[in-house]
Amino acid sequence: MADESMQLVNRLVLSLRLMIGHQLTTLRIRRAAKRSLLKVAVGAADVRADGWVGTDREHIDLTDRSTWARFFSEGSVDAMVAEHVWEHLTHEDAELAAQNCRHFLKTGGHIRIAVPDGYFPDAQYLEVVRPGGTGPGCEDHKVLYTYRTLCDLFSSQGFEVRLLEYWDEAGIFHTEPWSDVDGLIRRSGKHDPRNSGGRLRYTSLILDAIKR
Ligand SMILES: C[S@@+](CC[C@H](N)C(=O)[O-])C[C@H]1O[C@@H](n2cnc3c(N)ncnc32)[C@H](O)[C@@H]1O
Repeated sequence: MADESMQLVNRLVLSLRLMIGHQLTTLRIRRAAKRSLLKVAVGAADVRADGWVGTDREHIDLTDRSTWARFFSEGSVDAMVAEHVWEHLTHEDAELAAQNCRHFLKTGGHIRIAVPDGYFPDAQYLEVVRPGGTGPGCEDHKVLYTYRTLCDLFSSQGFEVRLLEYWDEAGIFHTEPWSDVDGLIRRSGKHDPRNSGGRLRYTSLILDAIKR
């Protein structure tokens, strides 16, 4: 009996904490929406970066424009970042999400996307990132992008695309200088600690999709 009461209390405390957490995030996003420089990390889980407001699908579902519209007006967001999010969307949802980002971005604003790289020249890497593969989160991966398919996705939605880090079909790694201020990507050639020592063990396909 005492055990059952304790379980009930624990469940109540947990629900209360979740409710308060949800409300606090709602307030944080509303406050950020009033900033003159509005930078939004989508699908951010608990990852935080200075100057960015973190959101996830409980507040902003990339595929559901009405959830965006609760916080932001059309053309009001300066920059977005999405690290390892797009591979969790089906092709149709990925297009819808790109359209929604475009709708809420300012002209000249960008979304920085990072996803696992389908041309990474290592079978073990591909095994841990492919849909249904053996890596963490793979059971929910829907697509393994290459620089070609990711560029096509965003170009077809009217974005100008700028590749920042990617592998090509010949196994050559390409990188352009990019600034963390415009969207920090931790799983990158530049920042992932697995690459210390000069050998690339984990990188992402990274691009900026710019609204013109
Ligand atoms: C692998 S986690 C990445 C989390 C974080 N961005 C990071 O770098 O660690 C994938 C995230 O995508 C989010 N996600 C998946 N579908 C989404 C959607 N439709 N709208 C918003 N976020 C979504 C999940 O909730 C999850 O937090």
